[in-house]
Amino acid sequence: MKIESLKIENVGGISSLSIEKFDPKLNIICGENGIGKTNILDSIAHCFSQLSNFILKRKSNCVNGYITIVCDFNRIEPYTCLIESFEPRDYNQNPYDFRSKLLANFDSNYSNLIYFKTERLFSHKWISSLEIYDEVENHLKNLDGVSIQLAKDWFIKNELLSSQPYTNDNDKNSIELAKKAFGILNKSYSFSALKQDMEIYINTPTGIIPYEYLSSGFKTCITIVWGIIREVQVRFPDIFVKDFNGVVLIDEIELHLHPEWQGKICNALTTLFPNIQFIISTHSPHVIQTAEANEVIALSRKNGHLEKRTLDIAPYGFKGWTVEEILTDVMGMRDTRTEWFRSKQKEFDNALDANDVLNANKIFNELRLKLHPSSTDLALSRFQLDMLNGRYK
Ligand SMILES: Nc1ncnc2c1ncn2[C@@H]1O[C@H](COP(=O)(O)OP(=O)(O)OP(=O)(O)O)[C@@H](O)[C@H]1O
Ligand SMILES: [Mg+2]
Repeated sequence: MKIESLKIENVGGISSLSIEKFDPKLNIICGENGIGKTNILDSIAHCFSQLSNFILKRKSNCVNGYITIVCDFNRIEPYTCLIESFEPRDYNQNPYDFRSKLLANFDSNYSNLIYFKTERLFSHKWISSLEIYDEVENHLKNLDGVSIQLAKDWFIKNELLSSQPYTNDNDKNSIELAKKAFGILNKSYSFSALKQDMEIYINTPTGIIPYEYLSSGFKTCITIVWGIIREVQVRFPDIFVKDFNGVVLIDEIELHLHPEWQGKICNALTTLFPNIQFIISTHSPHVIQTAEANEVIALSRKNGHLEKRTLDIAPYGFKGWTVEEILTDVMGMRDTRTEWFRSKQKEFDNALDANDVLNANKIFNELRLKLHPSSTDLALSRFQLDMLNGRYK
């Protein structure tokens, strides 16, 4: 299943928005704080969730809100969900039930959509006994996001079962993939062992540690990778996660990650899960820097409406762009320099125009102390000062 297009009207803070085409593999939503990124992900998740969920609200002062979603199986008749103040309900009376198709995979009772909200960290949990059956009742509460508390029990149970002769290849492969997750962004980390104390131990450059001792960045990756593997295994026991072709939503993918890892995470996920359609939100230029042109959904507000900006200037993607270029031309940042720099630069230009040698030298010395030693702005200012000082005639 792939999501193809989405229309939102009067939901949360969004008056109207139309995303005509989603990329089948990766979609990176960016835009300023409060523009509606989480709202878009919530709206998508809502269409795949039980109707008793009240998290999503119509826009204040509006009578109703609507979400219209088109997937690859309902192109002819899009599904529209009505968002009222209290109980949301279906809007269009389709001849056959699209909603049930959104809520459930064709071959299973479970939804094809997995949602990671911004909670990614976990703390230590004692495992005294293991549940035989994993919790599957929550699969339709997609709006609540994946529960990260269930991952440890899931891993331990499956690791213990993986050595049993009756365990099928699918389950064995899933647990092997879960073990690989520790090294996806740094190869010097790897799974060590599940010991008798029911703790999961990891090889790290500073020794063997329980997995809860890992840094926030590692925990973030484990939460997402294990979350996907676990949800697929629990909902669709016959499908190996690499073959799973559902949708994964991730809000603020860069959370807790160093810029270097922000630049690797999308590629790591799309390689590990080649058939999943990812729809993620981000504030990170490093995430966008790894994207192809059709993978970026840059939002801006126009006349009170939200729209996807056309990024014609990058028909071949952003892999050759600098972070500064992405910040200004994609993410809509007005200036990447500080207020201090801009006003000093102006003072310097005024001193040059007034042939004020004393003041120009004074301001240049201030700039010299604070700018990067190899800054081109600094080199240009030095050249201009030399001209003023009469060094070039
Ligand atoms: N029912 C509502 N009616 C009107 N506006 C609302 C409603 N619910 C939320 N909002 C507004 O919508 C915005 C929230 O949007 P959202 O959380 O999607 O932003 P975001 O792009 O994810 O921002 P951030 O980057 O800070 O997470 C807020 O500005 C909030 O004031
Ligand atoms: Mg948000």
